[in-house]
Amino acid sequence: MARTQVGIVGAGPSGLLLAHLLHERGIESVVLENRTEEYVIARVRAGVLEQGVVDVFRAAGLSGRLEAEGLVHHGIELRFQGKGHRIAMSELTDGRTITIYGQNRVVEDLVAARRSAGGPLLYEVSDVSLHDLAGARPTIRYVHEGREETLECDFVAGCDGFHGVSRASIPAGVLTEYERVYPFGWLGILAQVAPSTEELVYAYHERGFALHSLRSAEVSRLYIQVPAGEEVEAWPDDQIWSELHTRLARDDGWTLREGPVLEKGIAALRSFVTEPMCFGRLFLAGDAAHIVPPTGAKGLNLAVADVTVLARALEDFYATGSDAGLDAYSDTCLRRVWQGERFSWQMTSMLHRFPEEGPFGARLQLAQLEQVVSSRAAATALSESYVGLPIL
Ligand code: APR
Ligand code: PHB
Repeated sequence: MARTQVGIVGAGPSGLLLAHLLHERGIESVVLENRTEEYVIARVRAGVLEQGVVDVFRAAGLSGRLEAEGLVHHGIELRFQGKGHRIAMSELTDGRTITIYGQNRVVEDLVAARRSAGGPLLYEVSDVSLHDLAGARPTIRYVHEGREETLECDFVAGCDGFHGVSRASIPAGVLTEYERVYPFGWLGILAQVAPSTEELVYAYHERGFALHSLRSAEVSRLYIQVPAGEEVEAWPDDQIWSELHTRLARDDGWTLREGPVLEKGIAALRSFVTEPMCFGRLFLAGDAAHIVPPTGAKGLNLAVADVTVLARALEDFYATGSDAGLDAYSDTCLRRVWQGERFSWQMTSMLHRFPEEGPFGARLQLAQLEQVVSSRAAATALSESYVGLPIL
């Protein structure tokens, strides 16, 4: 039977970063991923890194390309009733910034680091199952290249996302799950066109939310709110552009540039937290433990915070034999997670169309937006949450 110190299920940002942070601390791990490397890298997902996350990557020697190609931003625009209002986030937060850098690139950088460290990273494993999680020697069984394998571990890290096997392996009755599903999703496109804005634009419109984000000087990322359950096939490109023009319109002549659509997909919006984020020697991290709606751009940032806390706790355990860090893991992470949930819920509630809330609800949303753009205190509170708390 093969052995390792930490068995890591999932090679998304959480699993790969954890493997790297452990390697730096002299702790061995094996990373098991059920999809192909190409699939995991190609998936278009988040794009905003908090300053604290960039700091984690820099301290871990992972920030070369991120610092060369990431776009450092100092503010965002809130757009409603035909007007744009800049939130000067850096000015309001002692100079803190965010960096625009696609999750695909984060994953590519982490795969490269894993390869150069020479640590095991197995793709296309199937039939992953977790055993003896409450004991001192948990095991992971899986099939790779047609062979059944068993990996004995000191600890298992469940970094396998919302639909993974890890959370589902915890016995019934242990976890409390908190969830809110929103009655809409986001249709996102990646377009081959220079962004029509320098900073991210979050737009509130009676037809629904729209977001103009970017990936580079040549590639734009745009989203519109669509009803839950909508199929992407029902949305031809011209109809998407037409909605974007309407929802992002400003009455000062600002225009949206169009370009070929490179990628298009719909994601449901959900808030979800499981407590605690562990069971015996299994520790959940990232999307396996919590989901936020994307409006606050917190998903990837929370995942990085979780694995940073976990790597430190494991370092402590192996250096001193103390369980204190591991015992505190869940509570430490959940404090940040609930702040992320609160902020993502607030941004989602403020900016989307909720038909069931009626005209009164819509008026309250506008009043809230007015407050954020006219009160320095309210803008500061939003900015502090958006740029995020330090992690290190
Ligand atoms: N066995 C092995 N791997 C699995 C299994 C399984 N049974 N189930 C899922 N996986 C893999 C998925 O294929 C995926 O590559 O686990 C990985 C989980 O990665 P993510 O879903 O990206 O989650 P995480 O690493 O926690 O990253 C969180 O990703 O979803 C975004 O917005 C989210 O940006 C946030 C970040
Ligand atoms: C993105 O660029 O993909 C993005 C930006 C901001 C968000 C969500 C997604 O709030």
